[in-house]
Amino acid sequence: MSFLLEFVRDPMTVAAIAPSGPGLARVATAAVPRTGSPVVVELGPGTGAFTAAVQRRLGGRGRHIAIEVNARFAEQLTARYPMVDVVHADAVRLVPVLAQRGLSHADVVVSGLPWAAFGDDQQHDALSAVVAGLSPDGVFTTFAYVHARWAPPARRLLQSLQSRFDEVVITRTIWANLPPALVYYCRRPAAPGATV
Ligand SMILES: C[S@@+](CC[C@H](N)C(=O)[O-])C[C@H]1O[C@@H](n2cnc3c(N)ncnc32)[C@H](O)[C@@H]1O
Repeated sequence: MSFLLEFVRDPMTVAAIAPSGPGLARVATAAVPRTGSPVVVELGPGTGAFTAAVQRRLGGRGRHIAIEVNARFAEQLTARYPMVDVVHADAVRLVPVLAQRGLSHADVVVSGLPWAAFGDDQQHDALSAVVAGLSPDGVFTTFAYVHARWAPPARRLLQSLQSRFDEVVITRTIWANLPPALVYYCRRPAAPGATV
């Protein structure tokens, strides 16, 4: 319910009327390794649909930082997930957020950001932050809704991903999600400023 309320308050930032379902959450977070101590950053966690899945995969290991621009979502997440380092900030702050914690890079960045609602500059700046904040062998995952896949903002996102990562793999459609969605796994980021 709080998700719908926040959508009504700020539709261009929340950009969905319901949180992602567990099937999409499983696929979007599958890049989080089940071994070692990875640094995982979540962008746009909302009410925590992916947060719970990341926490399950980490099983108490590593670091989990969640960057959310909506103050109410950030507050709710902090209360609900004490193991998660919730930061109330814009995703473009990814690199300084890592630096404040003595971290140079993230091993995995999982995005719930509403790319389709972003303008060109906002999309460019957020993706630049992801590329700058990801380790050279890191993985970035993000999702797109199937119905909007060929609309200009989604095509622009895919083109940007393909120009900024050496490998972009598109998953099968998760039909059980409302609306159905697919996930992009992006590996080997280009050096900041460069394209592949
Ligand atoms: C479509 S919702 C997805 C929420 C959740 N990840 C899910 O899948 O259910 C988009 C989320 O991104 C957040 N958001 C939008 N712009 C953002 C930004 N620039 N920086 C951080 N979070 C942002 C919104 O507040 C919202 O929580």
